[in-house]
Amino acid sequence: MIINPLVRPANFKDHQQLSNLIFFETRLHRHMDWRSPLELLGAPFYWALEEGGQVIAALACSPEAKGINWVRMFVYAGRWDVDHAWNMLWATTREEISRSGGATVAAIAMHPWFQQVIAASGFTNRQQIVMLEWRYQPWDGSETNGIRIRKMTEADLPEVEKTDAASFTPLWQNPLDTLRKAFSQTLFATVAEDEHGIVGYQLTTGGRTHAHLARLAVHPSAQGRGAGRSLLNELFARLTQMGVSRLTVNTQSDNDASLGLYQKMGFVRTGERYPVYTFEITPEED
Ligand SMILES: CC(C)(COP(=O)(O)OP(=O)(O)OC[C@H]1O[C@@H](n2cnc3c(N)ncnc32)[C@H](O)[C@@H]1OP(=O)(O)O)[C@@H](O)C(=O)NCCC(=O)NCCS
Repeated sequence: MIINPLVRPANFKDHQQLSNLIFFETRLHRHMDWRSPLELLGAPFYWALEEGGQVIAALACSPEAKGINWVRMFVYAGRWDVDHAWNMLWATTREEISRSGGATVAAIAMHPWFQQVIAASGFTNRQQIVMLEWRYQPWDGSETNGIRIRKMTEADLPEVEKTDAASFTPLWQNPLDTLRKAFSQTLFATVAEDEHGIVGYQLTTGGRTHAHLARLAVHPSAQGRGAGRSLLNELFARLTQMGVSRLTVNTQSDNDASLGLYQKMGFVRTGERYPVYTFEITPEED
């Protein structure tokens, strides 16, 4: 008997099967995300491909900032044809996103196989993500005009969100619920303030020997006054105190301000780079 595969919304009952796929299959694209793909179950635009009662592939494309959906996860059982699995799931996702008003769908392609799949579907590569690292070295901790650095608290997050929204283009913005999730996972989070309030922030994750600067932003109205440098100087001091001697960061290859800042502060490029792809889905016409 031939059982035709079926695309249907993924749901909480798929938890076990999906976790097996995610754990055992090497054919997994996972977004650099604050949420695990299993936590996203129940979010919109999350589809499972089922054959004979078995989930054999899944695609999660849930929204982040308004009008932006990231491909947060695509996984398929290796015995299946990747193009077939992707095309079935992507066709449904496209249709549903279009029906609900359209969006930009974005993906950072960390694996060549995934890059091929999305490029073949018409995704366009507009940017690269590049990785840099800082290894312990003495730094210039000179004071900066009227900028104070302090520990971030949960109560700061609404103001932090405003700085985030003003500093990043929509593709890279983190809404409040994402910032909250991120904050709960950080090793070290600080804000930069001037006499009017919060003008910048950074979030760093990590462990005993290696930390990762996951987020750094300074409000455009306060840029160029040394707030970015002060946030990093304070971070270097804390990490050094904790015995952490390596700090990595990712940024966009065309982000001159952040590349200028990181290079000035002693970061060097590691050579790792990943393409960022986008696909525009227009709203369905009535
Ligand atoms: C990147 C960013 C955090 C820099 O913050 P900032 O407070 O304006 O930077 P500072 O004033 O501390 O500048 C320190 C050094 O960084 C470099 N720099 C800062 N802005 C720069 C720019 N636009 N172009 C090139 N280099 C720049 C300079 O070397 C500067 O030293 P100088 O003032 O002696 O020339 C800020 O531009 C920003 O928030 N951008 C948008 C969000 C973003 O891209 N975040 C990083 C993503 S990973």
